Amino acid sequence: MKRVFITGAANGIGLATATKFYNDNYHLVLVDLPSLKESELESRFPERMTYIQADVSSEDGLSKINLEIEKGIDVLINNAGITRDATFLKMTNEQWDQVISVNLTSIFKLSQLAAKKMKENNNGVILNASSVVAHYGNFGQTNYTATKAALIAMTKTLSKELGRYNIRINCVAPGFIATNMVKKMPEKILQSMEEKSPLNKLGKPEDIANAYSFLASDQASYITGTTLNVDGGVVIG
Ligand code: NAI
Repeated sequence: MKRVFITGAANGIGLATATKFYNDNYHLVLVDLPSLKESELESRFPERMTYIQADVSSEDGLSKINLEIEKGIDVLINNAGITRDATFLKMTNEQWDQVISVNLTSIFKLSQLAAKKMKENNNGVILNASSVVAHYGNFGQTNYTATKAALIAMTKTLSKELGRYNIRINCVAPGFIATNMVKKMPEKILQSMEEKSPLNKLGKPEDIANAYSFLASDQASYITGTTLNVDGGVVIG
């Protein structure tokens, strides 16, 4: 049975992605910060599920995840991400460092652990959560946009280096999806994001889960190094 690792799996897009891969018959290895939701996850996924309480930006958390990676990994979905918004002139070093640490450095480290195991099996898929704002920037998100754009470039480089081991790496760049992260944004911005989509609506977490499922599947076996925009056409401006 194939094993998928999903970080940030207790909420939003991560939870929808876990549900999709559960229905696709994977064994789930779900990673999130210590969460009161553990029992909820256990009842939602009564079998084929391992829950790891870990902070992906801590060495301790990565060691815990690596113990499970050693048992086998087919797909890694680097979904965990945070925002610490402030306009550039007001952004603190702490806000910058936190976002770089969770949204970028942890993905470098976790992908390296996963790729070492995938190389042994000559097989694997790594999927990274970028964002539509990587393409055109976003007010108040110097830190966040920098990480999401960096993931697109990192994905291309990893694809070049790891293709020889039959490891595919791709990004998904969600538009504005109705999750807690987006609901925290000011109402005015939310409304303008809806209007930017030719479909005139926010996306659903399931829209992103479906893209991850496709990119992880054999139907995408010749797709690597790319970024799939799932954004209701927001990026076409
Ligand atoms: P969310 O805030 O609803 O869920 C994120 C999950 O990640 C939470 O369960 C949180 O506890 C977990 N997490 C945060 N820091 C962590 C850490 N250090 N270690 C382990 N887990 C951690 O977020 P949402 O909206 O579901 O977003 C998921 C991903 O998609 C993020 O990378 C986000 O940047 C990206 N994205 C989301 C968009 C949206 O519109 N919601 C748009 C574009 C990208």
